[in-house]
Amino acid sequence: MIGTACGKVILLGEHAVVYGVPAIAVGIDRGARAEAARTDAVSCTLALGDAVRASPADGSDTGRAFGAVLAACGVDFGVEVKAETTLPPGAGLGCSAALGVAIVRALDGLVGRAGAPPDEVAERAMAWERVFHGNPSGVDTTTAARGGCLRFERGEAGASVRAVRLARPLVLAVGHTGVASSTRTMVEGLAHLRERRPDLVAKSFEAIRSLVDNAAVALETGDHAGLGHLLDLGQMVLSGLMLSTAEIETLCRVAREAGALGAKLTGAGGGGCVLALVAGDAGPVLGAWERAGFRGFATTVGGATETP
Ligand code: MEV
Repeated sequence: MIGTACGKVILLGEHAVVYGVPAIAVGIDRGARAEAARTDAVSCTLALGDAVRASPADGSDTGRAFGAVLAACGVDFGVEVKAETTLPPGAGLGCSAALGVAIVRALDGLVGRAGAPPDEVAERAMAWERVFHGNPSGVDTTTAARGGCLRFERGEAGASVRAVRLARPLVLAVGHTGVASSTRTMVEGLAHLRERRPDLVAKSFEAIRSLVDNAAVALETGDHAGLGHLLDLGQMVLSGLMLSTAEIETLCRVAREAGALGAKLTGAGGGGCVLALVAGDAGPVLGAWERAGFRGFATTVGGATETP
């Protein structure tokens, strides 16, 4: 049985989304793939690419996450899962969520639940994600399972998710700082700042809320110049929350100088990736990044919500 999932970039709302502020995220055309097969052995093993082998009892994070996902999917028989991803880990592109969703889909196929609704799949994948990220909002697993462009809001009684209909396709350049960062560490860092400076963080979250609201309108009306400006403002707010780095600032500046409509960090920050919105051709931004010593790729987001 085979399961797939897409990676994601968060346009606006990362971190604040953990505390109930809405976020807008888009699925990208890189992701994860998993293959699951029953085995006669009682053991369950997971092979992640060529590098990692794990089983629920081995004490590793990956092993514990695999055990949690087996339980969430009701798998109580021997199974061998092979998973791989085209997403760099620790880059803010939803690598672990995509793997979790792909593995859930592959396991669902073994227990007669192939084609389960994306939100159910995403919920089961949260068992995997919680092991790595402690208190994930769910935006990564939901986007990995649904794809498209989504407005996601965490709530007491579960998440509210709606598709954002794009008036025209979004062309994004995604650049990597070359520095991996841990989502758990970055989320914990902001939680500590929130304890010390609750007013600062509350004001920043309110600013992010209005950026997200305005961005939804810009996306739905095709106002990409306005959206670019909102992305730049989002980067300023995230920098004020100590989530940016020198490499992130350089990538944003180089992208803007090369004609990007706006640029900001995406995901947890502290390293990872920057996204830049471009007017059509991502080539000039990617070229400028390369000359500055950074690697990147372009991705186009179409519009309707779709399951990969
Ligand atoms: C990570 O991709 C996004 C964060 O907002 C964490 C989360 O939503 O769980 C930083």
